[in-house]
Amino acid sequence: MTLPKEDMPRSELELSPERMLELAALASQLIVDRLDGLADQPAWRGGSRAELEPIMREPPPEEGRNPEDVLRRAAAEILPIAGRVDHPKFFAFVPSSATWPGVLADYMAAGHNIFQGTWLGASGPSQLEVVVIDWFREWLGYPETGGGLFTSGGSAASLDAFVAAREAAGAPERATVYMSDQSHTALSRAATIVGVRPERVRKVPSDAYFRMKMDDLQRMIDEDRAAGLTPIAVCGNAGTTNTGAVDPLESLADLCEREGIWLHIDASYGGFAILTDTGKALFRGIERADSIAMDAHKWLFQPFEAGCLMVRDVRKLEEAFSVHPEYLQDTQWGTDHPNFGDRGLQLSRSFRALKVWMSIQTFGMAAFRRSVGKGIDLALKGEEYVRASQILQIANPASLGVVCFRVNPRDMDLDDALLEKVNEAVQARVIETATAMMSSTRLRGLYSLRMCILNHTTTWEDVRSTLEAIERFGMEALEA
Ligand SMILES: Cc1ncc(COP(=O)(O)O)c(C=O)c1O
Repeated sequence: MTLPKEDMPRSELELSPERMLELAALASQLIVDRLDGLADQPAWRGGSRAELEPIMREPPPEEGRNPEDVLRRAAAEILPIAGRVDHPKFFAFVPSSATWPGVLADYMAAGHNIFQGTWLGASGPSQLEVVVIDWFREWLGYPETGGGLFTSGGSAASLDAFVAAREAAGAPERATVYMSDQSHTALSRAATIVGVRPERVRKVPSDAYFRMKMDDLQRMIDEDRAAGLTPIAVCGNAGTTNTGAVDPLESLADLCEREGIWLHIDASYGGFAILTDTGKALFRGIERADSIAMDAHKWLFQPFEAGCLMVRDVRKLEEAFSVHPEYLQDTQWGTDHPNFGDRGLQLSRSFRALKVWMSIQTFGMAAFRRSVGKGIDLALKGEEYVRASQILQIANPASLGVVCFRVNPRDMDLDDALLEKVNEAVQARVIETATAMMSSTRLRGLYSLRMCILNHTTTWEDVRSTLEAIERFGMEALEA
């Protein structure tokens, strides 16, 4: 049958509006079904290479297949074999529980295929990124000179920050960077990418609560300067991954001001706690940092990827990154019209600000504040449970949604080697039995269980039942 000319697809890779809508409806159905049944599913599913190869290995088909089958196959065979980081009992690593408007925003942005690198390429989206970044600026207490950009995540944000810090310091050859022994490895990797030799990425010891020791930091800086090295950045934590520790931010700001060193704060995981009174109190002084990394895909309930770098004087970021090739000469609209591609390492960028904007438009700030606060409260309640337990012992008090503990019954005197075996067995049981998804860590060398509670759908019952199961698994492991 010959179609009337106006209905003919323009290319072999196009679908008719009706087919697009049918497929989008099926995709939506598959996602909503997943979300609807998520709490009844295990919090994690994985597969070995041997299991997965036969399911997915094939040459790319020469002829297209039925798109409904393709969608159903993705939803049945590929996407579910993963950590359900948005499951209410996913307490491992750093969870991410996206809101539905955030998911739709990614779909809308992809559907409009926004190129968010220049004002010319995307004026409306650039204006919105300016607005959302300005919200973050106000939340952090930065002055009007502050600004930033959305990035893929905390790793990219710290890389961009170190480039700005290096350039602000005059790109010295023998540069050093300082961070605590608890800092995320994304930061040491970023420092080496910007040219700091690995042995010059200084790990400053932390105190009993895993906060950077200021005396040691000062001593290391003095020694390095005396040896002819040039410090380019000090990195403080506003929520370490291990324990949620917050470094002494005011003291760090004092030291960096005195020494003339760029202060970067890694708030990738903890940053949006600034929306709560607890976070505001813990982060006092953060507004004095030269740069701050925050991940909206962690504690602002957005789908991956929604990192962000904020800089107190955004011109320093633009000075470090701006390039003006002749083939982009048309994109210069003047200083009030930032080209976000000139604030970081990506020129082709997706439109990440839309998800934050759409979620906040839909639910309002009050709901976001309460949802961030809920994670902090549940971690504190988890700590209370552990402290009251005869079987569990606190390894580090709750801080910003993280609580660390281990099985160590009060009436038994177990040595470290046995404790380690028992806790490893408990962690394995939690995952085997699909009780929850947890990840362990080591604190001062000692094996520790760790719960990170950031999901807006997690209830006290989810936390309580997991801790209760851990007590039971602990006693069973000891009896065995
Ligand atoms: C404290 C901290 N910094 C940096 C990162 C790295 O961020 P991303 O994974 O978004 O690159 C993480 C990730 O969990 C983190 O928790």
